[in-house]
Amino acid sequence: MKKTKKLPDAPIPKVLKKVILAAYSAQPNAYAPYSHFMIGAAVLDAKGQIFTGCNIENSSYGGTVCAERVAIWKGISENMKLPLKAVVIVSSEKDKWPPCGLCRQVMAEFCVPDTEVYFGNNRNEFRMLSFKDLLPEAFTTQFLNGTKKKI
Ligand code: THU
Repeated sequence: MKKTKKLPDAPIPKVLKKVILAAYSAQPNAYAPYSHFMIGAAVLDAKGQIFTGCNIENSSYGGTVCAERVAIWKGISENMKLPLKAVVIVSSEKDKWPPCGLCRQVMAEFCVPDTEVYFGNNRNEFRMLSFKDLLPEAFTTQFLNGTKKKI
């Protein structure tokens, strides 16, 4: 059985604690032979389902995929219900691991302005930002031919 981590003391709702534990449980699965940064992620969908991911590196470097994108793509392929309520990213480092720009753009597709994004470190310390603060003025499908995203 995998070692469970101590939960954060911050006023984090109960359901979020489950998502955080899920992110930490995916973290040891990271395939990171180049950077050695082990990242875990978990997303909470509109129905309360949780999908996890880890970073998966590639010898081409450019083929590397971040943990949160893996979680989102796994979710989409398994009928995840949109929009996402929360995204959690945890690192093996003392730094709280913020989502990269490319992940923020991918998240823009599946989040709403109030989606909560938690990024944490290896000590159960978290920073939380609403998606709208993480990627202000996001480019979304609403700019494509004046269509509105239906989620
Ligand atoms: N990484 C993530 O998993 N998520 C992010 O948003 C930032 C970066 C990973 C990718 C790579 O394996 C390692 O962290 C160093 O960039």
